[in-house]
Amino acid sequence: MARLEVKIGNVVMKNPVTTASGTFGFGKEMAEVFDLSLLGAITVKGTSVEPWLGNPTPRICETPAGMLNAIGLQNDGAEAFLAEKLPFLRRFDSPLIVNIVGHSVEEYVKVAEMLGGAEGVDAFEINVSCPNVSRGFLAFGTSVEGITEIVKAVKGATDKTVITKLSPNVTDIVSLAEAAVKAGSDALSLINTLLGTSIDAKTRKFRLANVTGGLSGPAVKPVALRMVYDVARAVDVPVIGMGGIVTAEDAVEFLLAGATAVAVGTGTFVNPAAAIDIIDGIDKYLDENGFEDVKEIIGIVS
Ligand SMILES: Cc1cc2nc3c(=O)[nH]c(=O)nc-3n(C[C@H](O)[C@H](O)[C@H](O)COP(=O)(O)O)c2cc1C
Repeated sequence: MARLEVKIGNVVMKNPVTTASGTFGFGKEMAEVFDLSLLGAITVKGTSVEPWLGNPTPRICETPAGMLNAIGLQNDGAEAFLAEKLPFLRRFDSPLIVNIVGHSVEEYVKVAEMLGGAEGVDAFEINVSCPNVSRGFLAFGTSVEGITEIVKAVKGATDKTVITKLSPNVTDIVSLAEAAVKAGSDALSLINTLLGTSIDAKTRKFRLANVTGGLSGPAVKPVALRMVYDVARAVDVPVIGMGGIVTAEDAVEFLLAGATAVAVGTGTFVNPAAAIDIIDGIDKYLDENGFEDVKEIIGIVS
């Protein structure tokens, strides 16, 4: 068995596999499928200061090799997280990464402050794809100024490891990655979903009530892999790669491209135990190819 441990900021992961935010809820349902302590880290759904209701239905539809979702970051808010979700998640021997969302810099900071002192929260993943209401609803993560402002503010509000989750809906992801690192981000994760839509020709209606949604699953993998490769070469902090990872081979490709860890998202909807199969498969790949430590394959594609 190869050594699988990796480090993201101050978070030590016993293996390089976590869950992609929003595709794993807060772990309760998935704990019936496998022991969550087997994961390198548990990454939970986006959490805001107050509860968010999300978008009207229908808010999910299938696409060739993927899915579109317009859930709208529905969640019960930070207080409910502390009272109802965290006590359950604390039972597991895996670090916890909490994805945070907001409509203003102040809201992100408030969530980081509310959860930052809680035992069992190891890191924050800032979802910078949310619209900034005070700046014409442009997503924070689409401009160097926006990403700098939010990362600096969250970093200043917590001692926990800060991971910035980059949006792929930009022209130059490397400049945004560099800005996040310059602002103090300890690590980066990418990619979030790609903006898309779907129309039903029979009914002549949009399939999502929200009209647009985020594309995920195998369809986005080549885009994600390219972005991880470009970003990992440009920055000196660890990268968590995600986007269309369904098998161990997919995960290995992201590690070869330069990711230190990977997250499994939509793949979990097809195979609820995908993350565990991927941990086992990475181990097997390392053994079969004569590697003793997963770190030996990070970024070695040529
Ligand atoms: C149903 C659903 C909900 C999601 N919710 C969140 C979220 O709350 N915060 C976030 O940063 N990303 C969210 N994402 C994006 C995923 O974490 C991931 O970045 C993206 O789906 C690409 O990975 P995948 O192709 O493996 O699913 C969500 C994705 C899906 C499909």
